[in-house]
Amino acid sequence: MATKVTGVTQGGPPNPAGGKTRRPFLVDLYGSAVGKKYIMAITGMVWLGYVFAHMVGNLKVYLGAEDFNHYAEFLRAGLLVPIVPEEGALWGMRVLLLVTLFFHILAAYQLTVMNRNARPERYQARREFVAADFAARTMRWTGVIVLLFLLFHIADLTLGWVNPAESGATPYEKLVASFRQPVVAAFYVLANLALGIHIYHGGWSLFQSMGWNNRKFNHWRRAFAIGFAVVVVGGNVTFPLAVQFGIVS
Ligand code: HEM
Repeated sequence: MATKVTGVTQGGPPNPAGGKTRRPFLVDLYGSAVGKKYIMAITGMVWLGYVFAHMVGNLKVYLGAEDFNHYAEFLRAGLLVPIVPEEGALWGMRVLLLVTLFFHILAAYQLTVMNRNARPERYQARREFVAADFAARTMRWTGVIVLLFLLFHIADLTLGWVNPAESGATPYEKLVASFRQPVVAAFYVLANLALGIHIYHGGWSLFQSMGWNNRKFNHWRRAFAIGFAVVVVGGNVTFPLAVQFGIVS
């Protein structure tokens, strides 16, 4: 199916020799804007799945400390055991998240550079270029905020480096200790709003990037993008707010 790309050039870099290059198919595909968009969409979908499952899992905090800690321990050591060794699934997931995050950011950066170097008039109408550029700019900023949030979040709840709880505290104690700090709670809420905008734009564009862009399908795309963003962010912001309002303590 033909893929329409807005705001970027299509095809790989020009071949100075003028003849056919024989690079492996995937490398050749990645060299093109379309290939980079595939990578953005596929890696984005991995993260969409993760943030959704992570939010649903974290709802266990409302069942109390014991259930939440039990769930955290299960994720850490017990997931898919005995099919994989203890902590195997945890490390598999970490590697998948890191690799997909790396390629998501790399492809985003390279597409931005391609976009900047492209002469818009040569490829498409000016209006389309401006629209694509605006969306890309929003994605860049919300993406940077989410990335900074993620670094803080891991230093806070996974590594405990910036967490006020004593060493050896349970995951539940760490979560409550972190969200008791108003500045941290506010940061979580703001970062999740940025995540919502990012998911909304990403959830919409991924269909375009994958070539699933039949017009009749557009209102479903929009509903999916809005629904996904609202559910994930809506769930996530309840956690710091619940601690701030003393519902979780
Ligand atoms: C307010 C919402 C959130 C809460 C309450 C929350 C809670 C947690 C907790 C408790 C952990 C530590 C698990 C452990 O080590 O035992 C964790 C880890 C993590 N969270 Fe979140 N999280 C939230 C939002 C997010 C978001 C929005 C993302 C992604 C953008 C995210 C990505 C991660 C990642 C990648 C880890 C590290 C997993 C690992 O490798 O151990 N979290 N989160």
